[in-house]
Amino acid sequence: MASRRAINPSRRATDSGSIPLIASLHQKSRSSPLLSAGLVLLGVLCLIFYLFRGSGVSCTSDVLQAIPILKKAYKDSMRKVLHVGPDSCAVVSMLLKEEDTEAWGVEPYDLEDADSSCKSLVRKGFVRLADIKFPLPYRPKSFSLVIVSDSLDYLSSKYLNKTLPDLARVSADGLVIFAGYPGQQRVKVSELSKFGRPAKFRSLSWWRRYFIQTGFEENETATKKFEQASTKSSYQPSCQVFHLSS
Ligand SMILES: *[C@@H]1O[C@H](CO)[C@@H](O)[C@H](O)[C@H]1NC(C)=O
Ligand SMILES: *[C@@H]1O[C@H](CO)[C@@H](O)[C@H](O)[C@H]1NC(C)=O
Repeated sequence: MASRRAINPSRRATDSGSIPLIASLHQKSRSSPLLSAGLVLLGVLCLIFYLFRGSGVSCTSDVLQAIPILKKAYKDSMRKVLHVGPDSCAVVSMLLKEEDTEAWGVEPYDLEDADSSCKSLVRKGFVRLADIKFPLPYRPKSFSLVIVSDSLDYLSSKYLNKTLPDLARVSADGLVIFAGYPGQQRVKVSELSKFGRPAKFRSLSWWRRYFIQTGFEENETATKKFEQASTKSSYQPSCQVFHLSS
């Protein structure tokens, strides 16, 4: 676990997250000298921990790196892919560079700071903004494979119960989920509002139990092929990856 968190220690290290921490410590430090010394020490420890594990590492960047691996695991099922998650433009434009792959994307949060190539993908209808709490505007089995990153971490179980079956509905061959590990912190504080709620990272055992309760089956063949191809390419995702049959 420690090594996963250390993947990107310096990136955005000085970003907003640390500022409110210092500011709030400063206010509290007026109470008692001993208490404030303790608080400062605690603050420094938190800060070190925070900087060490870094922020801004997303499961979507895992997806970008995983494309060649997914191609090995899914072969023909990669011909018509839907990606759902933040930075979908990046995933879609990368997938479109692959031979024999068509790709579409759903961006669940916002496209306000989209760059010009992303705007062009939106204009051409490859990427759209859609609230994934509601049914996706696609017919059943519109895609061979659906890949979702980060987004499920921001859904309560109530919405997860609706969204996950809907993602499976639009997929013919499978659903790949990239979800955060408990204890991960990936989003800058300033960006939290766009997700509607803080991420809730669920454990491996939580997800496994949840799949069984909701009648989803993990695709063992795909899981095994994905793991084999990952090992071969020394690919180590920083998020949990699940392969579900649809
Ligand atoms: C979601 O589905 C699970 C499994 O069917 C169920 O146990 C749970 O109560 C549901 N949660 C909500 C909030 O509806
Ligand atoms: C499992 O994944 C493989 C690709 O590795 C695919 O060919 C197969 O159809 C999938 N099986 C099910 C039951 O979804």
